Amino acid sequence: YTAELDASDIEKGTYPHFMLKEIDEQPFVMRNIINQYQNENGDLKLDDDIRAAMKDADRVYIIACGTSYHAGLVGKQLIENIANIPVEAHIASEFVYNMPLLSQKPLFIFISQSGETADSRAVLVEVKRLGHKALTITNVPGSTLSREANYTLNLYAGPEIAVASTKAYTAQIAVLAILAVDSARAKGIELDFNPLQELAIVANAMEVLCDQKEEMEKIAREFLAVTRNAFFIGRAADFYVCLEAALKLKEISYIQAEGFAGGELKHGTIALIEDGTPVIALATQEHVNLSIRGNVKEVAARGAYTCVISMDGLQEEGDRVVLPKIHPYLTPLVSVLPMQLISYYAALHRDCDVDKPRNLAKSVTVE
Ligand code: G6P
Repeated sequence: YTAELDASDIEKGTYPHFMLKEIDEQPFVMRNIINQYQNENGDLKLDDDIRAAMKDADRVYIIACGTSYHAGLVGKQLIENIANIPVEAHIASEFVYNMPLLSQKPLFIFISQSGETADSRAVLVEVKRLGHKALTITNVPGSTLSREANYTLNLYAGPEIAVASTKAYTAQIAVLAILAVDSARAKGIELDFNPLQELAIVANAMEVLCDQKEEMEKIAREFLAVTRNAFFIGRAADFYVCLEAALKLKEISYIQAEGFAGGELKHGTIALIEDGTPVIALATQEHVNLSIRGNVKEVAARGAYTCVISMDGLQEEGDRVVLPKIHPYLTPLVSVLPMQLISYYAALHRDCDVDKPRNLAKSVTVE
């Protein structure tokens, strides 16, 4: 897409909002990433320099802001589980003041849709001053963060216009999964996980969910049309997606929303649950399914109005959305989609300006 930018990329076409268009584009973005990161033989294709840098690193530091930081949390899990490299994910604006003790051979990964975020750039400047290597994962080749880092991986998501990020988030996770697998192979780790094949399955699952807009609209109307607050709960990878779901809802509908780790509820948050408090739970992780189901019962017993989004094979009666089954490494790519749609419809029901929420900018170039 870098060479020929189609007019349709920056026009809404038949869509009422860019956000809805960009949500719907996610299956195409997944397929585009598959094409961009595969060679003639259908194998993974990644820069030799990047592979060498990952292989050489004793620890990876992911730096990002907002939605990109949430993708970074998923990326941390992917790189640790797949490539066996320790990873820390940090919010850029905090890292500048609270820099942790760095390892001997750190590699920094900057994740930024725009490639222009000032908070992330401030860290990059410092990292370069210290003489460390940096890789930028961005949707904008030629952006500041991409030019100033040693290496770049492109997201190939096409222009993202809506302030609330959707397709860039899923593209970031997909590219991080590819990077993790490439690094694992470089280290001689045997895997029975082919990211390109699994991403094709993800693309199909995304399409199935994009066709369920009526149900998402119903959930938004039922749970979020009039409420003042909302909670998203999940465990393991679902927790990271809950953080992103809450951010999406806050950004465009102005509902006070929080994402919580299911197990942490009892340590405070459950005090906030009253009659009718909306709690949306994600249950896509087999190893914690019983525990998160227990949390749903706990909040329901205190009056919460609960909505469970689960995954094929893990569903129980009464779940509102059942996601198609996909590889456990990649569940966030699919579980975030109903959250994006639910936020979108919640904002519509509350007459909010979906594409241009108050007080927010698409690209924040001041610290
Ligand atoms: C702004 C946007 C967010 C975005 C964040 C990071 O705050 O409103 O949607 O996640 O910046 O942007 P980046 O371009 O660095 O991913």
